Amino acid sequence: MGAVIDVDAPEPHRDSAAPSAEGTAAPPAEGTAAPPADSTAAPADSASPHPLLDPPDQVAVAVVGAGAMGAGIAQVAAQAGHPVVLVDAQPGAAEAAVDRLGRTFDRLVAKGKVTEDDARATLGRVTPHTTSDMTTVPGVRLVIEAVVEHLDVKRAIFRQLESAQDPRTVLASNTSSLSIDDIVGRATTGHDAAMHGGTSPALTHPGRVVGLHFFNPPPLMRLVEVITGRASDAAVLDAASELMRRWGKVPVRCTSTPGFIVNRVARPFYGEAQRMVEEGVADPATIDLALRDAGFRMGPFELTDLIGQDVNFAVGESVWRQTGEDPRYEPTDWQRRLVREGRLGRKSGQGVFTYADGAAVDAEPDARRASELVGGPLRTDPVARTLAMLVNEGVDLVHRGEATAEDVDTAMTLGTNYPCGPHQWLDQIGAETVRAQLVELDRLYPGGRYRPSEAL
Ligand SMILES: NC(=O)c1ccc[n+]([C@@H]2O[C@H](COP(=O)([O-])OP(=O)(O)OC[C@H]3O[C@@H](n4cnc5c(N)ncnc54)[C@H](O)[C@@H]3O)[C@@H](O)[C@H]2O)c1
Repeated sequence: MGAVIDVDAPEPHRDSAAPSAEGTAAPPAEGTAAPPADSTAAPADSASPHPLLDPPDQVAVAVVGAGAMGAGIAQVAAQAGHPVVLVDAQPGAAEAAVDRLGRTFDRLVAKGKVTEDDARATLGRVTPHTTSDMTTVPGVRLVIEAVVEHLDVKRAIFRQLESAQDPRTVLASNTSSLSIDDIVGRATTGHDAAMHGGTSPALTHPGRVVGLHFFNPPPLMRLVEVITGRASDAAVLDAASELMRRWGKVPVRCTSTPGFIVNRVARPFYGEAQRMVEEGVADPATIDLALRDAGFRMGPFELTDLIGQDVNFAVGESVWRQTGEDPRYEPTDWQRRLVREGRLGRKSGQGVFTYADGAAVDAEPDARRASELVGGPLRTDPVARTLAMLVNEGVDLVHRGEATAEDVDTAMTLGTNYPCGPHQWLDQIGAETVRAQLVELDRLYPGGRYRPSEAL
């Protein structure tokens, strides 16, 4: 895969649909048996540590939400051999998603990536189901929810699922920004609480709820962040992680902290560059070039134009708000203005750059300026500033006990396509140097954004 794909991205990058990569992330299915009438019935036995890990043809999966993510997750599960119910409230949406899946498999067959028999069997395992009443979803062993990113909607869905599914059924959310604890816990604010006379109840079995945060597009992106709620059962987390491995994915673990790993640690990649443009250090194309020369597949400006400035801004603002407006994550007025002016990136024809026929027409870097900046004074060095901040984020996440160093590095290389992870940069640059850089930046820009992690 030749391009950076950010988790924020609403659309797959054009390169990500390259023939070499299409549909190859999940292992082709072997078992093609029809779904059992009641797939929740089989209890765990000594040969199968968790019912989720029984042979895939016996482990029915429901995916709720047949949008960009849900349809992709359904494809991955079906390719791994599971019977899949694809649920959507919007009439026709689940059927349309299955039709699109059919066309994807036609292309894969034409390219010789899968046999016609496998394609037909995989498609035959996906059943569309239209409802907004989750109690009508057939009994399954795993539900993955991928509906709109709205806490009240997700809470209502999980409550209905809990009331109808077997207590052993694992319930997962693909949320990219909501807390698993908020989805399962008691609520005293918001629409859901109001609908329950001021307090909406917690789930009765929160241990079986985890986050399974896939990246876009799910069939191509190997990373899955397995999110641990405060009440999540260790056995459920282990089984969900192992299942992801069996689906050809690379699971990493993280607590339900704002932004999880990737959306949290990546913030300064965008923020430092925007601040440097705000300060007049260099133009966006020149800063992009400096970072590409440092090994990043795309610079922060071309990448946010691809993701959508509005989407990238919303993710950043959500992390900032959820961390109690920590200055480390404060969005820039510069990006806020882009969004307000409708300069959203490629999708609106203009963002940081102007686009015609899918290409930027005004992204002309000053190559000499780019090479002068790198290795020069810290304040005007886009690479040193960005790397120091990425390292600070990575080590601080580990220091707070949210994830392991290994998982942080894996997540950042697979989830964002960075050339290496924060801890690898830490080894290359040295903790003392990174700390000294942050102390200098903190002196230049007081206020807390550049405060070094205690781990440095
Ligand atoms: N798009 C991404 O890049 C991305 C990446 C990772 C995670 N996510 C998360 O995945 C989830 C889905 O995102 P998406 O981009 O696929 O959204 P989407 O808008 O493409 O699809 C959402 C689907 O959910 C359906 N839906 C809404 N309310 C429903 C309900 N009550 N019951 C059943 N179906 C309902 C809608 O009809 C729609 O088809 C969100 O939580 C999002 O944060 C998105």
